[in-house]
Amino acid sequence: MSAHRPAAVVVLAAGEGTRMKSATPKVLHTISGRSLVGHVVAAASALEPEHLVVVVGHAREQVTAHLEGIDSRIRTAVQHEQNGTGHAVRVALETLPALTGTIVITAGDTPLLTDGTLTALVAAHEADGNAVTVLSAEVPDPIGYGRIVRAADGAVLAIVEQKDADDAQKAIREINSGVFAFDARLLADALDKVTTENAQGEEYLTDTLEILREAGHRVGAAIAADHREIAGINNRVQLAQARRTLNDRLLERAMLQGATIVDPASTWVDVTVEFEPDSVVLPNTQLYGATRIATGAEVGPNSTLTDTTVGPGARVSNTVADSAEIGEEATVGPFAYLRPGTRLGPKSKAGTYVEMKNATIGEGTKVPHLSYVGDATIGEHTNIGAASVFVNYDGETKHHTTVGSYCKTGSDNMFVAPVTVGDGAYTAAGSVITKDVPAGSLAVARGQQRNIEGWVARKRPGSAAAQAAEAARRGE
Ligand code: UD1
Ligand code: CA
Repeated sequence: MSAHRPAAVVVLAAGEGTRMKSATPKVLHTISGRSLVGHVVAAASALEPEHLVVVVGHAREQVTAHLEGIDSRIRTAVQHEQNGTGHAVRVALETLPALTGTIVITAGDTPLLTDGTLTALVAAHEADGNAVTVLSAEVPDPIGYGRIVRAADGAVLAIVEQKDADDAQKAIREINSGVFAFDARLLADALDKVTTENAQGEEYLTDTLEILREAGHRVGAAIAADHREIAGINNRVQLAQARRTLNDRLLERAMLQGATIVDPASTWVDVTVEFEPDSVVLPNTQLYGATRIATGAEVGPNSTLTDTTVGPGARVSNTVADSAEIGEEATVGPFAYLRPGTRLGPKSKAGTYVEMKNATIGEGTKVPHLSYVGDATIGEHTNIGAASVFVNYDGETKHHTTVGSYCKTGSDNMFVAPVTVGDGAYTAAGSVITKDVPAGSLAVARGQQRNIEGWVARKRPGSAAAQAAEAARRGE
């Protein structure tokens, strides 16, 4: 790749994207966990250009701040008025020193373009000794794109925009992707000759092809192997289509790396998600951010995991998890909610209708049913009874609860933090634990049971309950 390191990559992202009908600038809309311009910048960065410049204009503070968050080496050039793609490139060149070699131009709204295709474009451009090489594609529906006009011998003559095309040109299915490789020394001069004499009254970058050809330079087109890669996003229908295409690509890669994706149609992943071989994803599952599924782990159905790691052999079913660590062979769900800071040890369990937050659960410890565990540390091989609540909030501050190893806590316990239960301790069902429980003791913290004999016969005479009690008394 470094053999074809371009002198610069320029990304055009100054347009408003009115067709999105959105308060968010078009290039900041996201698919698969990354903004549109973020995808383009990622592909461009892989070429290791000397300079990476993004042309910003509409909502430029927002777009610039976003780019700084991606990589501080990205430069921006401000295009105050969007006078066309040719003008945008002119603005970018003004921020750069005089360059030699290849300059790649790409658009901020073409998120599916891969670094492999960009590399191939640069290689073809340099091998052919062209002044400009446009990345083109044969598409089923060319409407809206600029058309590649070729001579009878196949030589590229010009690019004609949709709005400037005659009927014969409109029938051409080879289109301009908006991505170009230029000889850096020829680009600036060609741009100076671009006029605004066209249907949109803009400086078209695409006019440089004809200008360079007429000046006697070689111009060419490299046809993209997969036309879906060059799809430009102008509206939300295309945004959804691009998301679908990219998701399919990401899942295909995961499957080829050994992950089983049972239903690709209902599985959604971000570009940052990682799978190990023999991981399994069941239907209707969304995996976002820095989520990682280890070998032998099974996630789904109906689960949404964000920034969550799932250890080898773990099982996660019908679960929502955010910033959680699920240990080796742990089981989660069905119907669990793991919130940030949950760390489940090996072979531990967060069962049905269990919510956890900022909780460290030791190896083999189980919280099987209907419980809330917040701000807690639980040791190893402890069992927390059904319907327990770690009462961590006094209305002002959060407090921590510590439960030791090999404990058995009863059902329906409240652990009123801050409180500590020692190793090997038991607690009785229905207890409200407000004081520390020493290791090895049984804590009982509930009212004593009192039976009032004959109460029903006295207070509810003749009722069905009274009749049943009378029958029981007679041994019937
Ligand atoms: C452009 C091409 C068209 C091509 C299509 C591919 C031109 C004249 N037309 O059309 O041949 O088939 O892309 O998707 O180049 N931009 C600026 N400043 C401007 C104008 C545009 O930065 O003054 C940016 C936009 O933000 C966008 C990109 O350039 O990221 C393309 O602009 P857009 O208006 O979407 O061009 P298309 O009509 O799609
Ligand atoms: Ca476009």
